[in-house]
Formats: sequence, structure tokens, C-alpha cells
Amino acid sequence: MNARRVTFASKIGVIAAAAGSAVGLGNIWRFPSQTADGGGAIFILVYIGCILFFGIPLMVSEFVIGRSSRANTAGAFHKLSPGTPWKWVGRLGVLTGFIILGFYMVVCGWTLDYLMQSVTGNLQGIEDFSSNFTSLLCNPLRQILWMILFAFLTAFFILSGVKKGIEQSAKIMMPMLFLLLIILAVRAIMLDGASGGLTFLFKPNLDHVKPTVFLDAMGQAFFSLSIGMGCMITYGSYFDNRINFTRTAMQVATLDTLVAILAGIIIFPAAFALTANPATIVDELVAGGPGLLFITIPELFNQMHASSLWASLFFFLLALAAITSTISLMEVVTVYLHEEYNLSRRKSTLLVTAGVMILGVISSLSSSFFNILDISSAKFMLPIGGLFISLFVGWHLDQKLVYAELTNQGTIKIAIGFLKIYTFLLRFIVPPAIVAIFIYGLMA
Ligand code: PFF
Repeated sequence: MNARRVTFASKIGVIAAAAGSAVGLGNIWRFPSQTADGGGAIFILVYIGCILFFGIPLMVSEFVIGRSSRANTAGAFHKLSPGTPWKWVGRLGVLTGFIILGFYMVVCGWTLDYLMQSVTGNLQGIEDFSSNFTSLLCNPLRQILWMILFAFLTAFFILSGVKKGIEQSAKIMMPMLFLLLIILAVRAIMLDGASGGLTFLFKPNLDHVKPTVFLDAMGQAFFSLSIGMGCMITYGSYFDNRINFTRTAMQVATLDTLVAILAGIIIFPAAFALTANPATIVDELVAGGPGLLFITIPELFNQMHASSLWASLFFFLLALAAITSTISLMEVVTVYLHEEYNLSRRKSTLLVTAGVMILGVISSLSSSFFNILDISSAKFMLPIGGLFISLFVGWHLDQKLVYAELTNQGTIKIAIGFLKIYTFLLRFIVPPAIVAIFIYGLMA
């Protein structure tokens, strides 16, 4: 269709970019608080089920839509099914991306604030980390300035282009992130009393399970894998014809899940080891909610030698994880404006950056607005997007085209059994399961 459209240069670049999008604050900031809230190991089991049964098939489906159309998220539906309402699924995706950016950018700003506090040594010697975090939350101006800086940094990579900006940055940042996470996880496990955290993480305990665990885990899986809003459609549109979708989706999902679990292995042992009241730690974790990361982690570092160094490394890592995700979110909205409204890439980027800043300012001023954006996108918009994407690829698209994309025009020999499982999941399991989880979650 659009033969001259830019593509990523290498297979490794494809994995780095897609994993860069998937691995983000969702894994390190959102996953631990959701896990604490959802009963630890039980949440994780349901979560892994969602990754296997919804996540991987949907990611493959988004790749199919993206590469076969070589267009932005909304344009892709329009090209594959002209003159039908399917383009609204793409538009919903773009809107979802914009909404996620509106609160995600604020957390990115917190990350920079904490990076600064670590580098300058300010975090050292703080007595009460909880009020240190609250003082940031109560200072909108401070949050807004960091959020704006992060939005500009993201825009810089978008302006540098698909190969030089998105692919190159991910190829450098992702390995660094892994290395840092592993070092920190080893350090956290070595703390005295860490075992309580590991038990919480890996041993199912039905006492803390909530009825909404399925909806929460499904929302988290969609959010973490960056699926349900067409992010992987946009990235898939930059894949060349040799990329193996199934293998790529499995690799990205594995990396993403590993990072989430590693984040759990850092946070929970640290929280259990550092608490003064082991009996109430689970309640504390639940009450700490999303702030957990900015309270427990600095507290952990403060008990270690060279605390400023550890804290700086960690918040740098968090910023890396975050920026490869904000780049992917911003790319979805930017390339939509660029291709659908014939704006230059530069103008589109600036428009999106300005829009995101406006949402970000409101999110910084109002925690209810922040929460509405977070919950409506993860729990509602992404699963709804995922539902329609599965219906589109499973039932509406010509299955010959789907087969040709999955096998790279017949050149990859994938097991027929696998193909059958994929189609079966996409047609008969994913749509009804999303609807069922949705209804059950809303009634619970
Ligand atoms: N997957 C990212 C994370 O876990 O932080 C967030 C995200 C990026 C969600 C891109 C959706 C998306 F399209």
C-alpha cells in the first residue's frame, strides 16, 4: 500500500521498541500496587492468564492490522475496511493514547523529581518518606514543571524520527534497564526479613482477594502490554516483511512480565524488610497504593550504603522505562494527526505535546481527574478496544490476509496447531471473556 513508509532497521530494534513501549511505569509503578491490592500471588496468577489468553493473541492481531495497512491506528482500520464504522475503533484508540498520556506524564514528572532529589542527596536522611511524597503531591507547580520537561523530552525523540529517535533510544535504554533491575532485585532479596515479601508475592493467599481481581488484572495486562489502543498497530506498521509476529509478541510479553515480577521482587521484600509492623504490612501496602514506589523504595535505599547512588540509579531507570513508553504513546497520536490531517510531523508533535501538557496540568491539580483518566483508560477503554480488535481480526478481516501476515506470505512454517489455537482464542475466547469479566467486574 504505502511501500515507502519508514520501517525499523533490525529485528533487535523491533523488539527493543515494542518492549520499550510495553515495559514502563505500568510494570514498576502500577503493577506492584495492583498486586498488593489484589491479594499478591492470586493477582499475579490471574494476570499471567490474561497475558497468555488475551495479551499475546491481541498483540499479534495489532501487528497484523499495522503491517498489512502500513498506516496509523485510525487509518489502518479505514484502509482495511473502507467506508465502515471500524475506523471508530482506531479513533477510540488514539483518544485512549492521549488520555493515558494525560496522567502518565505526571508520574513521569514525579520520577524526574525523585531523580533530582536523589542526585542532589536530598533523599538521604529523610525521616518520613510518606510525607516527603505527600509534599510533592501537594505542590502542583513542582509537578507541572517536571511533567512539562518530560513531555518535551519525549517530543524530542519523536521529532528525531522512527529509526533515529524511537528505535535507537530503545536499543540503548532497554538493556540498561534490565541490568539495573537485576542488580536491585538481588540487593532487595539480600535484606533481612525479605522472605515475607517473597512469600506474599509467590504464595497464593485467598484472604486478600477482591471480587474485581479479574477486571483489575485484565486492565493491568492490557495497560502493561500496551494493547487495546492500537499502539502495537502503529509500531507494527513500521515492521518490515521479515518480522515474525508470533515470536515477537511472545518475546515482548515475556520481557514485560519479567520486568513486572522483578519490580515486585524489589518492592515487596523491601517493604516487608523495612516495616516496623510486620503484622499490618499488607494493609499498609494496600493503603500506600500507587505511591508505594515513591515511599518504600527511597526508604530502602536510605538503609543502604551509598544510598544516593542507588536511588539515582533507580529513578534514572524508572525514567528510562517511562520514556520509551511515552514515546510510543505520543507516536500513536502524532502519526495519526500527521497522516490523517496532513500536518507535518513537527506540527503534529507540537500539537500533541501541547495537548498532553494541558491534560497533565489538570491531572496535577486534581487527583480525582488523575484517577478518572487512569481507571477509565486501563479498566474500560483498553479492554473495549481489545474487544473490537479481536472481533475485527477474528471475524471481519479476510482470514487469508491474516494467515499471510502470520506466516510472512507463507515463508515461515508455523505449526498449524498454533494457528488454530490463535484463531480459536481470537474468535471464541477473547471477546466473550472480555465481556464477561467486564460485566462481572462492574457488578462486583
Ligand atoms: N505499557 C506501558 C506501561 O506499562 O507503562 C504504558 C502504555 C504504553 C500503555 C503504551 C499503552 C500504550 F499504548
